[in-house]
Amino acid sequence: MLHAYAGTRDPLARHYTAEFVGSRFVDLFDREHPAGILDLGSGGGALSLAAARRWTAADIVTVDVDQQAGARICDSMRLVADRRHTHLQLDALDEDLPARLAHRSFDVALCNPPYLTLPWRQGFDRILSEAGLPREARRNPSPVAAETLFVAQILRMAGRRAEIGVIVPDGLVSGRRARSFRRSLLSRVSVSCVIQLPRRSFSGTDAQAHIVVFRNEPGGGGDIELARLGEDGLREPIRISWEAAENRMDHEFHLPRRTSGRSTFRLCDIGAEIVRGNLSSAEARSATQPVFHTTSFRKAPGASVELRSDFCADDRVGRRVARAGDILLARVDRNLHRKVCQVAAGSAILSDCVYAIRVPNRWKRAVLNALSSPSGSEALLKTSRGVGARMLSKADLLELELEVA
Ligand SMILES: C[S@@+](CC[C@H](N)C(=O)[O-])C[C@H]1O[C@@H](n2cnc3c(N)ncnc32)[C@H](O)[C@@H]1O
Repeated sequence: MLHAYAGTRDPLARHYTAEFVGSRFVDLFDREHPAGILDLGSGGGALSLAAARRWTAADIVTVDVDQQAGARICDSMRLVADRRHTHLQLDALDEDLPARLAHRSFDVALCNPPYLTLPWRQGFDRILSEAGLPREARRNPSPVAAETLFVAQILRMAGRRAEIGVIVPDGLVSGRRARSFRRSLLSRVSVSCVIQLPRRSFSGTDAQAHIVVFRNEPGGGGDIELARLGEDGLREPIRISWEAAENRMDHEFHLPRRTSGRSTFRLCDIGAEIVRGNLSSAEARSATQPVFHTTSFRKAPGASVELRSDFCADDRVGRRVARAGDILLARVDRNLHRKVCQVAAGSAILSDCVYAIRVPNRWKRAVLNALSSPSGSEALLKTSRGVGARMLSKADLLELELEVA
C-alpha cells in the first residue's frame, strides 16, 4: 500500500478526526430522525460519537479493520449509545460487506476513509458497478484511491435518498485526474455541500481535506454550496454551478478574490514559457554543481538572487538550468505562494520542485511584481492543490489571473 498523507507511513492511515470537526460534521445533515447510521473506517469513533449525540434514537453500525480501534470505539460508545451500537471488525472493502451486514440499508452514513492508494484487486469492479459508479471512477487504471471505493461501498448499503457525508482528500475535490470521478459522482448522487476543513482537523497530519455531503439519488444539476469550516463554524458560503463543481469543488478556489479594480493579465497571453526543473531530490543531493531547490528561496518574495555558478551549461535532456532574468517560483511546497524570486546573475540547475518563468523583457518587472504582491500570493494559494504540500500545475499557472501590481 502506498500512503497519500504527507510525512506518515501508517498502513491503515489512522489519522483521527478532531472532536470539533466531528460535531460540526453531523450538523451538516438535514435528516432529523434516521433509523440506521453506518460509519465505515470508524477508528476511535470521532464521527460516530458526534452522531450518537445528535441522533439519540438511531442504531449505529461501525466498521473498522483495526482491532485496537474496535476496543476503543466500543468503550466510548458504551457511554452514549450502549444498546444502539454494533461494531464489526471487518475489511470495509470486502466485496461481500453488504452480506456481512445482513443486507441492511442505512439512511445516514458517515465516513472519514483512509487516504491510501491500493493495488487493484478482484472485487473492486463489483463494488463500483453495484454502487452505480463506472469503472472509469478508478482515478488511475491501477492502483486505486481507497476513498473512491469507500464511497462506492457506502452507496451499496445506502437506502434511497440516504444522506451521506464523507471526508475526502483535496485531490478528489480539486485534482485534474479526479475530474472523471467528480463527473460520475455528481450525476450518480445529489451533492448538497462541500466544506473545506482547516488543515489541523486530524491527528498526526495537516492534510487538506473536505467534507462532501450528498443524497443517494441522481444529481439534478442544481447549484452546490461551498463553505469553509473555521473553529467557530461555517464561513464565507458561496454557491457554484454543477459544471463548475465538475472542474473543482474546493471553496478556496471558487471564493471570489478581493479585487482592487486594477487590470489583470495571464501568463498564457504574454508569451510566457514555463520550464519545470527535473532534478529529483536524490540527484540534487549528489549533484556537483549548484542546485536551486525550494529551500533556496531565502529572501522576501520578489527579491533578486545571485546564483553561485557561472558555468552551468544550458538546458539539456535531464537538466534544466536557471539563468539571469528567469523568474523562479516553487512548484511544490507548503509556502509556494511566497517562494518567488528573480535571477540577477549566475546559474544553477533547477530541482523538480521549481519552475523558471521566462517572459519577454517588457513583461519581466510586471510578472515579478504581480507574483510577489499580496494579490499574487492569494491567487497562487487559491489555485494550488494538494493534501499535504501544495502543488501548482503548469496549466493553472499559465491561466492564473494576475493583477498589475
Ligand atoms: C482516517 S482514519 C478515520 C477514523 C475515524 N473515522 C475518524 O474520523 O477519526 C481511517 C480509519 O480507517 C480504518 N481502515 C483503514 N483501512 C480499512 C479497511 N480496509 N477496512 C476498514 N477500516 C479501515 C483505519 O483503521 C482508521 O481507523
